[in-house]
Amino acid sequence: MYEVHRVREDFPVLKEVIYLDNAATTQTPVPVVEAMNEYFFRYAGNYGRGAHRLTRETTNRFEDSREAVARLLEAQPENIVFTRNTTESINMVAYGIEWEKGDHIVTTRIEHHSNLLPWMRLRKKGVSVTIVSPDASGVVPAGNVEAALTGNTRLVAVTQISNVFGSLQDVSAMSEAAHNVGAALLVDAAQSVGHMPVSVKELGCDFLAASGHKGLLGPQGTGLLYIKEPESLEPVYLGGGTVHSVTGDGYKLERPPARFEAGTPNIPGVIGMGRAVKYVIDAGITNIEQHVTSLARSTALRLREIPGVEVYGPEDRHGIVPFNVGTLNPHDVAMILDETRKICVRSGHHCAIPSIDFLGVEGTVRASFAMYSTAEEADLLVETVEQIARTLA
Ligand SMILES: Cc1ncc(COP(=O)(O)O)c(C=O)c1O
Repeated sequence: MYEVHRVREDFPVLKEVIYLDNAATTQTPVPVVEAMNEYFFRYAGNYGRGAHRLTRETTNRFEDSREAVARLLEAQPENIVFTRNTTESINMVAYGIEWEKGDHIVTTRIEHHSNLLPWMRLRKKGVSVTIVSPDASGVVPAGNVEAALTGNTRLVAVTQISNVFGSLQDVSAMSEAAHNVGAALLVDAAQSVGHMPVSVKELGCDFLAASGHKGLLGPQGTGLLYIKEPESLEPVYLGGGTVHSVTGDGYKLERPPARFEAGTPNIPGVIGMGRAVKYVIDAGITNIEQHVTSLARSTALRLREIPGVEVYGPEDRHGIVPFNVGTLNPHDVAMILDETRKICVRSGHHCAIPSIDFLGVEGTVRASFAMYSTAEEADLLVETVEQIARTLA
């Protein structure tokens, strides 16, 4: 088990605040920032272009990051595409498939808008979209997804861990059901990669989208898309880096993944993300999962005992604890937590309005944990919420 108090030395801002907004974005450790500094100060060049030493060094380090991500996900490097974030990765699939009128997509009511709106927009092209409901705790039973499948279903798009409920879906079972009707499966792994072991082989998915700036502790503006059969997807952007040859009549695309990475990418970001992957692997992903889930589960149980506090999500949640305090506005609760104890939590609809509507509330306060969160921080949160509930609610 890694030593939580020791890793905190790598995150200087944690000396200043109680940071419990990790589902939105995480803090970046010193070695990752140093890896990005090293790029700028020692070998900055463009990627994949030219023969001089700086461009070669840059290209090698960029590809090292791809290999690190591939190893993490049990994939091959040629199936990993670097993107700006989960949102871009999902949109690349939505735009990259050649949809036909009558095609059908199954998604769920617990999705982040980033895994919902791109599919809803396809209705304009005559694609139908079924939105499957979760159970009361925010878990989508695989059977509900299976029941929604038809002979026309081409894609099932589902989140592995809900950013509203912290619930884990049985993605492997959904994958099997989707494949039985000839549909592909896309996993939104924004809240799972880095927080728990995620293997594309075990999930049996066709696409997996994730961000570098959440569980992976990498920089903002980085993301990834795993594509099982890259030849089946049309690149959304074309231009420098994506073509093998061009004549006046047309062009021949580069082999994957280059065909999906048009233009100069976020090179320092990708190099930082590769270093971040090594950081979480060194800490041990199963250790991280155990630490984060046990903090979140015990916090949820204790918050639930406070009169007037309502906690949402399943008992076997991952690192996310959503709650409300009486009839107080969630933003007010978040402001008080910050003003009184420098506790940073998220409040509102969490870019998942259908989930919030499902709960029948205006929004929630959301505490979310990461590998560097401590039991003392959780104690302070519970204690402060208890005071707020006693005095204001
Ligand atoms: C489940 C889920 N999907 C997608 C996203 C979008 O991630 P990004 O903003 O990095 O694109 C988030 C962000 O919170 C999320 O929680």
